[in-house]
Amino acid sequence: MSNQKQTIAPHGGELVNRIATPAQREEFLSKADYLPRVQLDERAVSDLEMIAIGAFSPLTGFLNQADYNSVVDSMHLESGAAWSIPVTLSVSEDVAAPLSEGSYIRLDNPEGKYIGVLLLTEKYTYNKEREAIKVYRTDDEKHPGVKVLYNQGSVHLAGDVWLLEREQHPLFPKYQIDPAASRSLFLEKGWRTIVGFQTRNPIHRAHEYIQKCAMETVDGLFLHPLVGATKEDDIPADVRMRCYEILLENYYPKDRVILAINPAAMRYAGPREAIFHALVRKNYGCTHFIVGRDHAGVGDYYGTYDAQYIFDEFKPKELGITPMMFEHAFFCLRTKQMATTKTSPSTPSERVHLSGTKVREMLRSGELPPPEFSRPEVAAELARAMHVGVGLPISC
Ligand code: ADX
Repeated sequence: MSNQKQTIAPHGGELVNRIATPAQREEFLSKADYLPRVQLDERAVSDLEMIAIGAFSPLTGFLNQADYNSVVDSMHLESGAAWSIPVTLSVSEDVAAPLSEGSYIRLDNPEGKYIGVLLLTEKYTYNKEREAIKVYRTDDEKHPGVKVLYNQGSVHLAGDVWLLEREQHPLFPKYQIDPAASRSLFLEKGWRTIVGFQTRNPIHRAHEYIQKCAMETVDGLFLHPLVGATKEDDIPADVRMRCYEILLENYYPKDRVILAINPAAMRYAGPREAIFHALVRKNYGCTHFIVGRDHAGVGDYYGTYDAQYIFDEFKPKELGITPMMFEHAFFCLRTKQMATTKTSPSTPSERVHLSGTKVREMLRSGELPPPEFSRPEVAAELARAMHVGVGLPISC
């Protein structure tokens, strides 16, 4: 291990750790049958996990009303720290009614397993339309993030949490690298500048291009695909991870990339989520973060570069991580390489770019995306997975 100091502090200064100590765990387990229970959905489970491992530092629990209002209205916590997405635990009025403030609540996963504890400090109702408009910039119920919001309970439970145990990820144990571990790894490797990359899609050549452009100027790439809940028609995480493995094996220098999973759920909140994604990667120890075209967007809800413009709404250095912005990248048929309009003299008809929806349609009808869009090994893997219907377990 090198003696170098970490180059970037976690958001808020300290890396939060809300994983119960063995003594706390024993105590919580001894109360298993007496504590009131709340069952978490998939997103709440991953939010609990993200808080516990420090990926959501400085959050130590689900937001109280003052923080919630401040985040929704002004993208800051009451403490003044930047925070763009409300991290809340919502339940129905029926579930909330018997729970008293000041008590410990047992948190179960969707299968009914006891996985965490909430010290309930506040219950409050909130305005879903307001959150939709402010956070998602739309109240259209067809927006996948708004849909989740409108379907969730109308009461928020706030308070600090504990995760009973940090369990191995069932599919990707070797890629489960939590913020404390990624920070140590960066130090070990002597990396002082690290660029984080968020993705929820199978890797294509535009992703590879912007990652490699960024890699030209930093010490290492932290490839951080999101594996929490995504919308139904997104490609499953195991298929995406296999594509990453294949690509890294063939097209990347092994010593300059770390592949790790981001257990968060996708919100599809475009600009606000770009800020959120950047802060999470800061907690993992990244100094830089890639924001390309329509980051975390869906459909036509956001302008191509809205997720880049939003960074201007924060004071210089306030976020503490440097965004690396990229224009819409494509394969240029004239120069026969990946490019953007910044580097290519092409006319629009000489540019190959496909949407994720188009690629999924092609795969479903048995067509492979062209090599200008996707490396052939990745296209073959996608085709195989789509024809089988479900992803096979990743080779770990
Ligand atoms: S996201 O929802 O996780 O943002 P996706 O996996 O498609 O979706 O994108 C990952 C990152 O690559 C984002 O920063 C996005 O803006 C960027 N990106 C995706 N496609 C392109 C492209 N053709 N040109 C430039 N940036 C892109």
